[in-house]
Amino acid sequence: MDDLDFRFPALSDLRHRAAQRLPRFAFEYLDSATGSEAGARRNRAALDRVGFLPAILSGDVQPDLTRSFLGRAWTLPLGVAPVGMSGLIWPRAEDILSRRARAAGLPFCLSTVSSSTPEAIAPNLDADNGWFQLYAPGEPEVLKDMLERVHKAGFSAMVLTLDVPGESRRERQRRAQLSISPQFTPQILSSVLSHPGWALRMLGAGVPRMPFPEAYIAPGQSSADRFVHAGRVIRGYPDWAYLERLRALWPGTLMVKGVQDPADVPRLLGTGVDVLWVSNHAGRQFEAGPATIDSLPAIRAAAGEDVPIICDSGIDSGLDILRALARGADFVMLGRAFHYALGALGERGVDHLLHILRADMIANMQQIGARSLDDLPVRLLPSPC
Ligand SMILES: Cc1cc2nc3c(=O)[nH]c(=O)nc-3n(C[C@H](O)[C@H](O)[C@H](O)COP(=O)(O)O)c2cc1C
Repeated sequence: MDDLDFRFPALSDLRHRAAQRLPRFAFEYLDSATGSEAGARRNRAALDRVGFLPAILSGDVQPDLTRSFLGRAWTLPLGVAPVGMSGLIWPRAEDILSRRARAAGLPFCLSTVSSSTPEAIAPNLDADNGWFQLYAPGEPEVLKDMLERVHKAGFSAMVLTLDVPGESRRERQRRAQLSISPQFTPQILSSVLSHPGWALRMLGAGVPRMPFPEAYIAPGQSSADRFVHAGRVIRGYPDWAYLERLRALWPGTLMVKGVQDPADVPRLLGTGVDVLWVSNHAGRQFEAGPATIDSLPAIRAAAGEDVPIICDSGIDSGLDILRALARGADFVMLGRAFHYALGALGERGVDHLLHILRADMIANMQQIGARSLDDLPVRLLPSPC
């Protein structure tokens, strides 16, 4: 066992270390949900209620963690969810995460509002591990150009995010004085000065921006408000007609992220969506919705056995991944976990997180007597206990 495994045996240890190393506004950006954060707590409580029956006399169980998904065998059933402005947590976060994902044989999803461009990340991708998350641009020419750039850069899947119909309040971020255009208030400055390591890293890398949408800001708009203008570029308020247009324009795999209602599933599939991504944005958008682990079985029932389903929101451990797979997901994505790992330990944190998740999946599958991920549903307790 290496030193990191003693110091950071679980994701909670990485989160704790990230909280120490990041200025308050950066940690709150990463860690906060919206409102009273009941949505985030519900994700956790619902995951904890999903149990498995332990198995005895199973012999030597050496679990196989590979997962076949979208025509490819991934080394683990998980990938990196899109997180905007990752550069606030660690310089060149997207570069690090995409390189480590590829090295580990896992997918990486780049956000529209990431601090990097699709072209800059392209060299880090293999033939089909790059997915791109889209916040819908309103202007049709902008949409067309964005899709062409993403396709040319080699991303195989487009992920349209549907659970951001408007801004959420995220009160903790407001208390930390985080705003769309950076403001250097006394609280922010003192927070930066009390985290010199973070400040020096940022000085070296430059203040993180959102270069992809910023490229579409109309000429003549003030550069002081670039973040605000970039936000407007991608405030397209998508509807069903938008989804149809996107389907017609995008030649690759099309995913929709933020599915929660099984009643939407037939129309989504009828529109040509290839993958359903069950998400509540980790409780960052709406606190009164269902936990994704609770939504999964009905979405699976509505979609049928063959439609690929991804789940995220609140997945904190290898056991949580097993829970989501057993409840109907084919694949799981993690957002904050990878960023706690980066914020705590930089690049080596990413590999350490993967080690923790892998080891935890193996330990729990041995308890369940599951030799492959397909064996999980059999040991699921009939209803949440
Ligand atoms: C700081 C932060 C930024 C995010 N930015 C985006 C984004 O740009 N686009 C998007 O579709 N989802 C975004 N998400 C949501 C994630 O893709 C994902 O749904 C969620 O984080 C999964 O829950 P988890 O963090 O508990 O793993 C963001 C989440 C966080 C924590």
